[in-house]
Amino acid sequence: AGSIDLAVIEGDGIGQEVVPEALKVLEAAAPSGVTFNRTAYDLGAERYLRTGEVLPDSVLEEIKGQGAILLGAVGGKPGDPNLPPGILERGLLLKLRFALDHYVNLRPSKIYPGSVSPLGDHVLKGEDVDFVVVREGTEGPYTGNGGALRVGTPAEVATEVSVNTAFGVERVVRDAFERASKRPRKKLTLVHKTNVLVNAGAVWWRLTQEIASEYPDVTVDYMHVDATMIHLTVNPQRFDVIVTDNLFGDIVTDLAAAITGGIGLAASGNVNPDRTYPSMFEPVHGSAPDIAGQQKADPTAAILSGALLLDHLGHPDAAAAVEKAVLADLADRGAEPRKTSAIGDAIAARVAG
Ligand code: NAD
Ligand code: IPM
Ligand code: MN
Repeated sequence: AGSIDLAVIEGDGIGQEVVPEALKVLEAAAPSGVTFNRTAYDLGAERYLRTGEVLPDSVLEEIKGQGAILLGAVGGKPGDPNLPPGILERGLLLKLRFALDHYVNLRPSKIYPGSVSPLGDHVLKGEDVDFVVVREGTEGPYTGNGGALRVGTPAEVATEVSVNTAFGVERVVRDAFERASKRPRKKLTLVHKTNVLVNAGAVWWRLTQEIASEYPDVTVDYMHVDATMIHLTVNPQRFDVIVTDNLFGDIVTDLAAAITGGIGLAASGNVNPDRTYPSMFEPVHGSAPDIAGQQKADPTAAILSGALLLDHLGHPDAAAAVEKAVLADLADRGAEPRKTSAIGDAIAARVAG
């Protein structure tokens, strides 16, 4: 029982269409006695274009005091001259992940019965595809370390330095082992590119080996990120928990989404396991300017992100009820496309009923 302080950031494009559906389902799934005390934050492209503000410090401070965050998507149409790339992505989304210490970016992938994978039956063989990517969320090439020299000249040099600290790698690898040890198959795959990125690779490799000795029941293997693209498309069943750095994890999880029913189903949690700040739940997808404003977006990824939020806040039964309702909805999906709101209504009705 109790009230959950929920920060809601719809953001841009289809973020504004999928978040209301996730909220409908959250309300329907809330255990009795649990209420959401919502605060909507006007952040994203519209605010930036209107005021020049991306994430004022006072707003960040207020968000730090919330219980959890539900976010839709941020970012404009690539190439929009009014919205330079990175302004919102770095200034809003990554700023929240860094400032709130979301070092575990949790991205589960399952092929649900009824969801359509582009992989053929000869690949899937009726076997379960059910893995989770533990993507590092606060380091790697995302920290903004780097720069550009002699910009615009033929002698231009640009660098993006990947930051990998023992502190940062150890805490995310440990979290991944902990998750692996609680799953039936107890398997962890480190994904990296240790054959080329030898400095960062050595840190990830060494800490994974060291922590492995504390988890004798977890089977550990290693795969280069390029080969991971092969295995995700020819035998995705082999994965259980994948742990990887920030950029590899970004790329791996879009492919993981595509093979398990599409980006419209892929949920994520930016988790602060130490609970020093609120965690943030959001679909893996972006603002999809190509379909925005047309009620064409699938809200399921946002709805399943709501399930991760419920689970994180200690309501696993409510989270399971949302997942079950999504499963039932997927099994029932016909050829006729439904509006974003119709999908949300149908899933909310299943949760309530
Ligand atoms: P995107 O995920 O927005 O879209 C990729 C493709 O998937 C598009 O064809 C889109 O129509 C489709 N798609 C995405 N979500 C869908 C849904 N729920 N239902 C049906 N189809 C869906 O990626 P992009 O086009 O590379 O990026 C667009 C903008 O979003 C950029 O500004 C980018 O920086 C930003 N972005 C933000 C986030 C985030 O907020 N977490 C994530 C990715 C991209
Ligand atoms: C994601 C997005 C973000 C990322 C961008 C928009 C900063 O692609 O959440 O996957 O790279 O993490
Ligand atoms: Mn991404």
